[in-house]
Amino acid sequence: MAVYKINVATGSDMAAGTLNNIFIILVGEHGESEKHQISRHWSHFLPGSVTEFDINVEKDIGELLLVRLTMERYLNFLLDDWFCQYVNVTNPSGQLYQFPFYQWISKPGSVEVPEGKGVIITGSTHPILLRQRKAELEMNRETYKWKVYAEGVARCIDIEDDGVFKLPPNDQYSLLKEISFGYNLLSMGFGTMLKGFLFNKDLWHNLEDIKLLSTLRQSQKSGLVSEIWKEDYFFGSQYLNGVNPSLIKKCFKIPENFSVVDEMVASSLGPSTNLETELQNGHIFLADYKILENIPTNTINGKQQYIAAPMCLLWKNPQDQLVPIAIQLSQTPGKHTPVFLPSDSEFDWLLAKTWVRNSEFQVHQIDIHLLRTHFLAEVFSIATTRQLPMGHPLYKAWVFGDGGIPLLLKRAMEGMTYHNLCLPDNIVSRGMESIPNYLYRDDGMKIWLAVESFVSNIVNYYYTSDVMVKEDPELQAWVAEIFKEGFLQNTSSEVPSSLKSIASLIKYLTMVIFTCSAQHAAVNSGQFDTYSWMPNGPTTMKSPPPTAKGATMEDILKTLPDVNTTALGLIFVWIVSNDPLDTRRLGNYPNKYFTEKTPQQSIKEFQDKLTEISKHIKERNKTMDLPYAYLDPSVIENSVSI
Ligand code: FE2
Repeated sequence: MAVYKINVATGSDMAAGTLNNIFIILVGEHGESEKHQISRHWSHFLPGSVTEFDINVEKDIGELLLVRLTMERYLNFLLDDWFCQYVNVTNPSGQLYQFPFYQWISKPGSVEVPEGKGVIITGSTHPILLRQRKAELEMNRETYKWKVYAEGVARCIDIEDDGVFKLPPNDQYSLLKEISFGYNLLSMGFGTMLKGFLFNKDLWHNLEDIKLLSTLRQSQKSGLVSEIWKEDYFFGSQYLNGVNPSLIKKCFKIPENFSVVDEMVASSLGPSTNLETELQNGHIFLADYKILENIPTNTINGKQQYIAAPMCLLWKNPQDQLVPIAIQLSQTPGKHTPVFLPSDSEFDWLLAKTWVRNSEFQVHQIDIHLLRTHFLAEVFSIATTRQLPMGHPLYKAWVFGDGGIPLLLKRAMEGMTYHNLCLPDNIVSRGMESIPNYLYRDDGMKIWLAVESFVSNIVNYYYTSDVMVKEDPELQAWVAEIFKEGFLQNTSSEVPSSLKSIASLIKYLTMVIFTCSAQHAAVNSGQFDTYSWMPNGPTTMKSPPPTAKGATMEDILKTLPDVNTTALGLIFVWIVSNDPLDTRRLGNYPNKYFTEKTPQQSIKEFQDKLTEISKHIKERNKTMDLPYAYLDPSVIENSVSI
């Protein structure tokens, strides 16, 4: 007879405790213990509690491999969900075994968890562990199936709109997230409804009136944006440090279909230089929205909506500002496609820039935000990070007509490459290595390197050779599935379908973590700052793009969204820019899945590095008129949640 000491920890979430009967079985190399009920006591299984008890095991079961927990109904009480954090077992000779559960147990039956050491399957892996891993994967594959959202677009989870409540509790929105989501929705929704904005289908009669709505809620930056949105330097700075900082490219040659010529931009560039020289000097940049060409649009408030596919040329001036110098609103040049210039009338130039900002909104939301962070996060980790794309407010994006979103997503998929997703390559491929004041790049690279170093420590701890990477069947199956379901086996994306070395594994994992955390923060957190002043990013446009110059203020107001559409846009950006109450920051892993010392040490080093980066960013921002805080690690979420 041997006595094992057991500690069972219940989660601290307010709904984590249970009234059920809980049973435990220890599984070792040489056999299993008997089934023991964990003694019932009023203080056991309360949220945050750790229950301690001993069990007697009749025979020698050898090295412990698994713990099996079973839940059964207590008397006539309903079976309620229980969140088990961990089970620690000390054997008779004093050796501690840690079993990190960190999961909801929701139905009768058993849940098995292996000891916390990371194990890569090899020829010598114990058959009991092989059996447990196979069973776990089979169950997951049964629960989570892939579904075609639209032809040519990354696959998503096979679930109905309300199906989140049918998922295992581990993957439903947390209670806190539901509460905060609802609170944000209601507080903002009621505020605006009371003011009558949501029921007003009129157009705005002057820009100042829009402030009546935009000042209902303000962030530190949103008020400033409403003051400086017309300024060319601010318009340009948003390509570097706004919510869509990875579209702009260095331009070496003006595209054939862009009718801008030297004399048009002479007054912007000044007498000491010209367009050709500035192209050669690497001071000219291009934002091209070709992806929006001929996307179908719908009607809102009974009015047809419109979309443009502009090109915008920008110049890094001697003051190191990035300023727009020419805008063409269509991909097809011709006499009805004027090139708009800063030297045009105030309203012509403002209307052209507003059209570009509207295109920014569309491309940012659908391609950069929805596809490249939300969809990818779902693909990367269907079983862990749950943000249902089908239920996400982004799906209700405004301007697109039938088939518009799938078509845009399909085009965006074609442009999505491994290069784009890996920040260092992304910066180089767009020629953005040296442009000054590109804080997305500067902060992003610091975080990329910190993640890479963390991943490198962990990977090198578990994998000691490239062969181990190549011959890890579970890892290779994961990578192959992402390539198949997420990138539709598109080899031109250069996304790996298998990994052949430790170095390639480090890069791949860094990309996955960066995409789901920092990249999402960069394109998500500033949405309220950017868009709450509607003219800086209209959600939709209700006049066609101008085909001649001569615009008036009235034309601009007729083009901008109606009052109620503006209010809906404001509610949307308010919700998506607010953290859920259960936010976890990058580098914080409250679920201690790693039980070994070395990985725990790596996590600590990663956290220290992030703290240092955060300190540096906060210091720098104190001195800036337009601070950039979206990539401050202290506000980056660990995953894509909203
Ligand atoms: Fe988001």
